[in-house]
Amino acid sequence: MTGKKPGSSATNPPGPSRRAFLKGAAGGAMAAPLIAGTAAAEVIRSNGVQPAGTVLPDRAVGRPFPAGFSFPEQAVTIPNDGRRVGYAVVGLGSFALNQMIPALMGTDHCQLTAVVTGNPEKGAGIARTYGLPQDAIYSYERFDEIANDDRVDVVYIVLPTGLHAEWTKKAFAAGKHVLVEKCMATSPAECEEMIAASEAANRKLMVAYRVHFEPYNMKAKELIRGGEIGMPRMLHTTNHRVADLSRPSDVWRLDRSLAGGGALPDYGIYGLNGMQYFLGEQPVEVSARITTPADDPRFLEVEDHVSALLTFPSGAMGNLSTSYNTENSNTIEVYGTQGRVSMDPATFYGGNTLTLRQGRSTDRLDPGDSSVQFAAQLDHMASAVLEDTPILTPGEMGLRDCRIIEAIYTSAREGRPVKLSPDATMME
Ligand SMILES: NC(=O)c1ccc[n+]([C@@H]2O[C@H](COP(=O)([O-])OP(=O)(O)OC[C@H]3O[C@@H](n4cnc5c(N)ncnc54)[C@H](OP(=O)(O)O)[C@@H]3O)[C@@H](O)[C@H]2O)c1
Repeated sequence: MTGKKPGSSATNPPGPSRRAFLKGAAGGAMAAPLIAGTAAAEVIRSNGVQPAGTVLPDRAVGRPFPAGFSFPEQAVTIPNDGRRVGYAVVGLGSFALNQMIPALMGTDHCQLTAVVTGNPEKGAGIARTYGLPQDAIYSYERFDEIANDDRVDVVYIVLPTGLHAEWTKKAFAAGKHVLVEKCMATSPAECEEMIAASEAANRKLMVAYRVHFEPYNMKAKELIRGGEIGMPRMLHTTNHRVADLSRPSDVWRLDRSLAGGGALPDYGIYGLNGMQYFLGEQPVEVSARITTPADDPRFLEVEDHVSALLTFPSGAMGNLSTSYNTENSNTIEVYGTQGRVSMDPATFYGGNTLTLRQGRSTDRLDPGDSSVQFAAQLDHMASAVLEDTPILTPGEMGLRDCRIIEAIYTSAREGRPVKLSPDATMME
């Protein structure tokens, strides 16, 4: 991350830092109005717990409620039979409040036992809605006390990517297991530190790749690996959407220090991880191009569009396309010698589709409710802790993907294909 650790910015595309641009000697007061004067900045300033324009600090701070969010009117609790794994959720943003905490209430083996937030109103709402005592609502400053809190077994980190490594290491230092959101971190070096901390603490580390627990993706993998489309030869993935600085959760995503890059580590990672999940192999070479529009305040620090061609040991090739500046698209197509698997959408929270084409036959499959993926992921971590079993999406998978992201950025920057070793490090 350029702003924090010069020299460790391997996953980051080149370009000026917005933080440096706004605060640095060259930009200073003259540069600030470029962003701080936009309507988007006014929205952020008017409702923020952290009201400092569009420039967020690269440390944990409270943020406004996600737009449109409100806690359920009825209290939601599940009986604590003493056998459930206690979760502390760190960072109460859009994904934690809208998806993961409600899903936690529908699990078989998990219990919400604490939250960590910089916004006291969010903490109060969680206490009221989910029946947590006041001493289970931690501020970031009080986090280290969690080491003495036996209610907490797993710390689930739902912070911006640039804070994952720091808070994962803190959680391991407190003796807890860690579930960390994708993208695991902003550089392979950070991932390596997180894995080392997990090993030193003898605690488990899981990366939250939820689609490994999603019925449509699991069925697609079964079809592909089961030979239903013959030999898979070509994969196309798209992860496109339009980033919007007026949304609090897009502000950090366009800040290189907090995001580690643009569309690729945040959204394109679904295509990258999915290709490897479906094929059961990882690329041996990547070749990529990046576009970043000039004069667009969203893309002062991170890329807009990445197109990458990945070559796999079997000879299969993957076309990955990801963008923060084109209309929504979330698809995976796998073309084999005797058929095709299509998913559109492929990795949504619900409503995914799966079509199998073989010759003239077309089957639209319905392997189950997509929305079970969240609870299934949380229960997988809980079972691994309870039974000391291996994790399906471990830190090593997150590290592998960060290494490939680093190679994709390197290929685009240097305008050449980059070969990868079996551990996904760059060969040259
Ligand atoms: N697996 C998935 O499908 C999926 C989907 C969406 C997001 N995610 C991941 O979940 C994580 C959070 O994403 P999100 O969309 O929920 O983001 P978000 O809405 O912006 O929430 C992030 C939360 O982190 C906390 N935070 C602490 N320091 C911060 C800082 N310096 N800047 C910004 N926020 C800070 C704040 O919580 P408090 O106010 O409570 O302190 C904030 O509300 C990311 O790692 C993202 O990749 C995963």
